[in-house]
Amino acid sequence: MTRTSAAAPVDSVPAPVPAPVPAPAEPPVHPVGHLIAPGYEVLEHVRRGSELDCYEVWSSERYCRCFAKTPRPDRAGHPSTLRHLRREARLLVRLSHPHLVRGYALANPEDGPPVLVTENLTGATLSWLLDTHGRLGAADLAHLGLHLCSALRYLHGRGTLHLDVKPSNVVAAEGVAKLIDLSLARAPGRCAPGYGTIGYLSPEQVLGARVGPPADVWGLGVVLYEAATGLRVFEPRHGGPGSSRSSLSRYEAVLVRPVRRLRAHRRLPAEVAGVIDGCLTLKPADRPGLAELSDALATLA
Ligand SMILES: Nc1ncnc2c1ncn2[C@@H]1O[C@H](COP(=O)(O)OP(=O)(O)OP(=O)(O)O)[C@@H](O)[C@H]1O
Ligand SMILES: [Mg+2]
Repeated sequence: MTRTSAAAPVDSVPAPVPAPVPAPAEPPVHPVGHLIAPGYEVLEHVRRGSELDCYEVWSSERYCRCFAKTPRPDRAGHPSTLRHLRREARLLVRLSHPHLVRGYALANPEDGPPVLVTENLTGATLSWLLDTHGRLGAADLAHLGLHLCSALRYLHGRGTLHLDVKPSNVVAAEGVAKLIDLSLARAPGRCAPGYGTIGYLSPEQVLGARVGPPADVWGLGVVLYEAATGLRVFEPRHGGPGSSRSSLSRYEAVLVRPVRRLRAHRRLPAEVAGVIDGCLTLKPADRPGLAELSDALATLA
């Protein structure tokens, strides 16, 4: 007999169980063949995120498949969603780099929200590759790191920080890695606390302090550590569902705990592992620069 049943009065009436609140119905996605913007016909709905829908589309101007990002129908009038998409489009159509997704256009249909059209990448995300095949070997890790360093050095040279470097924002195919998702990219300066993705945020992004190139060095360091070991670096302790503020403080708590250094895994030459460990230094000024990281990775490639 459990303590609860012993304490319960024999004639007690069970409290009514509240009926579950039905989740609001998801708005439908555009069907195959729909003209999402002039010249762009839907081939397939690929993904629905919290703000955007992604489609593979056929471009009648380029005669090829393209990738399209557009606000979900229920976010179509949301100023922050539109602002992020327009900012990403403004940046991507001006940038051109072999390790950065290529932006083609921001289409503005008369009867719908804007559509960002980019090249269609046929590879897999690094997050999928790591989940499916596990950690990378040294040569693949070196190429991944060199490609991402190259893209970030280019971005930084144009006065822009990515601020969301993480495995699901890297697509790799046939040995070539490309950085995607510039929805949070911006110039150096103060940012809002928690600006980015928990698990990859630098301490200065957590705090909402001034961010500069070292914030992306941190994100890249986490990505390379995870790619080298197949382990998550900063897994916030589960505290059940909570506000984004409480998950941010759980993340902040694990951040200050010393990470088991990559050098200690003995999977890479000590010098290279040491530079990657250096990317995860709490003080931004003490992290290596991207040039130093590239030089170290080049010795592995
Ligand atoms: N150009 C592309 N070609 C092919 N697939 C892509 C392309 N861009 C993005 N994807 C796929 O769509 C996913 C979401 O894209 P992206 O990260 O740009 O959007 P997002 O809405 O900002 O997502 P999140 O909030 O999850 O970061 C990527 O993880 C990738 O699987
Ligand atoms: Mg993304």
